[in-house]
Amino acid sequence: MNVVIAGGHGQIALRLARLLSARGDAATGLIRNPDHAADLREAGAEPAVCDLERATLDEVTGLLRGADAVVFAAGAGPGSGAARKDTVDRAASVLLADAAERAGVRPFAQVSAMGAGQPPRAGTDEVWAAYIRAKGEAEDDLRARDGLDWVILRPGRLTDDPGTGRVTLAEPPIGRGEITRDDVAAVLAALLDARVSGRTLDLLNGDTPVPEAVASL
Ligand SMILES: NC(=O)c1ccc[n+]([C@@H]2O[C@H](COP(=O)([O-])OP(=O)(O)OC[C@H]3O[C@@H](n4cnc5c(N)ncnc54)[C@H](OP(=O)(O)O)[C@@H]3O)[C@@H](O)[C@H]2O)c1
Repeated sequence: MNVVIAGGHGQIALRLARLLSARGDAATGLIRNPDHAADLREAGAEPAVCDLERATLDEVTGLLRGADAVVFAAGAGPGSGAARKDTVDRAASVLLADAAERAGVRPFAQVSAMGAGQPPRAGTDEVWAAYIRAKGEAEDDLRARDGLDWVILRPGRLTDDPGTGRVTLAEPPIGRGEITRDDVAAVLAALLDARVSGRTLDLLNGDTPVPEAVASL
């Protein structure tokens, strides 16, 4: 399998690249900062410089041609304002999905966030509201597409603890909690392997081994 990961230097993306390369699959990571290329190679991924807030549809399409699957793992990140929640968490996802359709790459896994698509509670911090709105709109964009085999993964609060290999993975709601980035990467790989599509899934650490959790979908 040849997987293109957008936001290739992200913490989940690098973990996914390591998993894929360790088992003999190929990963290409789209990065905006060329200085990150060495970290990708160290993780076993091929870097491709592509700033998804500046790239054209033709450029992104060219990078996806020949891939077997696409993963959107980018995000404006902590410290960014409301404007970049829209340009990265929403618009970059839409651009990547447009490019995947044009390149004829159907499997598309999106890293979203728990709570996406729900109206922010009154009094919510403006940046958080913009983030949840952007994630929700990116999800809506994917769900409206017939040209992709999309799957949307909504992790709970991410931690850097070592992976447990055990999760709770199901259609929302499943409650609130934490999930390790290691386990998010493992679930993404398993969802791609199993060709799960048309599902919006919440993810927390739990009791079910990842292969069983994905098989039970
Ligand atoms: N933190 C949480 O608790 C939590 C919970 C649920 C879901 N999530 C979501 O999970 C996803 C992945 O999390 P993570 O911890 O792996 O995130 P991360 O480490 O912040 O990685 C996000 C990556 O996106 C890249 N990026 C930003 N703007 C870009 C652009 N214009 N073009 C290309 N790449 C760009 C960043 O690149 P640079 O390194 O160049 O900035 C970064 O490498 C994010 O979407 C996040 O919102 C987070």
